[in-house]
Amino acid sequence: MDRNRWKAQCQILICAAVLDAAILGLMAGTVQVRAGAADSRKELSLAEEQAILPDTGRILPAGSPEMTAEEGKENSRFAALGSVVALTFDDGPDVYTGELLDTLERYGAQATFFMLGSNVEKYGADTIPRMAALGCELGNHSYSHPNMKKLSVDDGLAQFQMTDDLIAQYNNGQGATVVRFPYGNSTDDLLAEIGRPSIMWDVDTLDWETKNVQANISAVLNNVSPGDIILMHDIHEATVESCATIVPELVNRGYELVTIHTLAAANGVDLAAGETYYGFHNGATNE
Ligand code: NI
Repeated sequence: MDRNRWKAQCQILICAAVLDAAILGLMAGTVQVRAGAADSRKELSLAEEQAILPDTGRILPAGSPEMTAEEGKENSRFAALGSVVALTFDDGPDVYTGELLDTLERYGAQATFFMLGSNVEKYGADTIPRMAALGCELGNHSYSHPNMKKLSVDDGLAQFQMTDDLIAQYNNGQGATVVRFPYGNSTDDLLAEIGRPSIMWDVDTLDWETKNVQANISAVLNNVSPGDIILMHDIHEATVESCATIVPELVNRGYELVTIHTLAAANGVDLAAGETYYGFHNGATNE
């Protein structure tokens, strides 16, 4: 009896030990799987992928707006292609901006967003960190879209300062790197104080007027040329929908869709504060 009980106890102990080992093994396996997943996420992050695959069509890592004009001149791939173009989106962010970012991400494209402070308050949290992560450039389009020619310099500057402060909340304390005046209306006094380049455009899609997908596709694809700055508005559903066709077609035609700073750098231009730029064609602006 005693011997049998001892045997039974032994069996229970052995079973428990085997079970423990199995649980430990599972836990170790789980930890390994988790570590593996973390590693592969790191390997596949967009910035790193773009940084380590320089010859597959997308070469610009996140942070490329910092590229200098000298680096742009030395970039032989840009020199060879000469087909960089900047998509710019005004008056947002809005409910459609996320879908637009999906399209840009899908095709490895970048854009510049000239945002209104009043809309950053509503949609900035959902969109600005993602814009930055995709390497897009953040622009300031005032707080409430006034005509700057009708405001004092101080009131005009306050419009941009408020918007910078709002953008900074979602961008690690950094405001916009470029500005666009509402209606393209600036004054010399305001330009002297604004502290950043003022960006106009050379292809006006009139998307705010047509609000039509096919019309906007035609407006871009029939008029685009290398070095262009293209004006659209991501507050219109039709515009965002049209970009699902425009972006891949431009990529298909060999265009690099880049930020304003990269567009300038690729054409050997260092953007200067208080200067106004319309587009970049072999180093010349359309001023
Ligand atoms: Ni506007």
